[in-house]
Amino acid sequence: MASYLEARVEGDLRALLQQHDLLRTLVDAFGSPLNLVLPDQLVGNVEAFRAVHRDHRLAGQIFFAHKANRSSALVRELAATDAGIDVASLGELQHALGAGFAGHRIMATGPKSRDFLWLAARVGAVVNADSTAELTELAGLVAAHGLPPVRVMARLSGFSPAGVNVLVRASRFGIPADDLGPLWEVLEKYRDELDLHGFAYHLDTVGLPEKIAALEGCLRVLDEALERGLNPVAVDIGGGFGVNYLAHGAQWEQWTTELTSAVLGRTPPLTWNGHGYGLRNENGKVRGVLGLYPAYRPLTGAAYLDRLLASESPSLRRPLGSLLLESMGELYTEPGRALLDQCGVVLTRVEEVRPGPGGDLLIRVAANARDISLEEHGVLLDPVLVGGDRPGGDGPYGVYLLGNLCLESDLITRRKVFLPTLPSPGDLLAFPNTAGYFMDFSAGRPLMQPTAQTIAAYRDGGSWLWCLDEQYWPVDRREGTA
Ligand SMILES: Cc1ncc(COP(=O)(O)O)c(C=O)c1O
Repeated sequence: MASYLEARVEGDLRALLQQHDLLRTLVDAFGSPLNLVLPDQLVGNVEAFRAVHRDHRLAGQIFFAHKANRSSALVRELAATDAGIDVASLGELQHALGAGFAGHRIMATGPKSRDFLWLAARVGAVVNADSTAELTELAGLVAAHGLPPVRVMARLSGFSPAGVNVLVRASRFGIPADDLGPLWEVLEKYRDELDLHGFAYHLDTVGLPEKIAALEGCLRVLDEALERGLNPVAVDIGGGFGVNYLAHGAQWEQWTTELTSAVLGRTPPLTWNGHGYGLRNENGKVRGVLGLYPAYRPLTGAAYLDRLLASESPSLRRPLGSLLLESMGELYTEPGRALLDQCGVVLTRVEEVRPGPGGDLLIRVAANARDISLEEHGVLLDPVLVGGDRPGGDGPYGVYLLGNLCLESDLITRRKVFLPTLPSPGDLLAFPNTAGYFMDFSAGRPLMQPTAQTIAAYRDGGSWLWCLDEQYWPVDRREGTA
């Protein structure tokens, strides 16, 4: 039986995937793999977050987490809006500045080198600090270089929710929320160098209860800081709003059920070499934890933010958004993946189709698992055969997608993918909705294989225009062609 995981493809991305001749021409010209990004979609996604701010009457800023994609077109288009950007390296900071972001619209997060700290301080970015040691180092730089005071966010972690049984995960980032003594000391000692702007968290989880606990915790700390005579103005709730990758919840349910049955050996394997994605068979019982992103997630992106703000604080019994409003606090977010929903696709050319072990088919594409890092990030979705909706599809065909490296492990997906129509060498497979983390986060040049070029695509009335990512500027997009 075929187990499809049909990708959720909407709006302009869906329309672009219908431009078969254009997509073939682009891959002929720029090679496989090829990344396509849609800057206008990013702007639309920012607007959806802004609408949630308006609904909750919250001022603040949306900082796009740059790490999710390296494209210049995306960052430059964003610079033309009123959004901010979250940069997590010196290179990303330079990229943002070069794209047109002024320092005050930039938030510096993550592990920071001294150069990164200095440039962030020099241009007036907000520094979202991971530790009191980082704050001390920053204060030293400010003093030594005669820089103006720097706005800082204190990133906190390890919130213990009052009276609620929520697992608190250890984090390598952030100042322990239950031991703020050292933070108050550093802020007091360096009051001429550091200007406390607010408190932050970022939790690497999809779980709402943990985020409710963290936001509530930040609100408590905000009050404590005000009582101490400090003037914090913002709470930064990080990213992690998520994307719904699949069109049908029922397919996801079915596939995960079938995986369990296959792991138990009751049905034929659904994965390469019986890989269990974290599940294993122990004496006829399934053990382990499914190590996959919940590819079907009905509550994501701006709607997830809305739900979080509408959620009651467990201890104060009021909606968190109202509490933030009453504290006169601004809301900052750092969405990466969610802002890139429907913003891009990776195109690959089919190189070879041949029979494989156990009667399965093997399809090798001109790309490797780093070029489309769905497996590494635990996201499962079916590719689309460009032009594959042609009549006469006699599938489904169960196939494994192989990469172009001479490594056993180089599989684009370890899950058996079902295709309605069997591709032939030269056909294109498109991996939709891959702009967030999957198209260039992990890409390198193993075996000196080419890395993908990136093309920005946009609409002009009824036609599609495009240009090289590097040549895209929001000011005049008519240089493109299609
Ligand atoms: C500090 C910080 N902010 C924001 C993000 C973006 O997260 P997401 O892409 O899940 O929204 C990350 C991701 O690692 C992060 O580390």
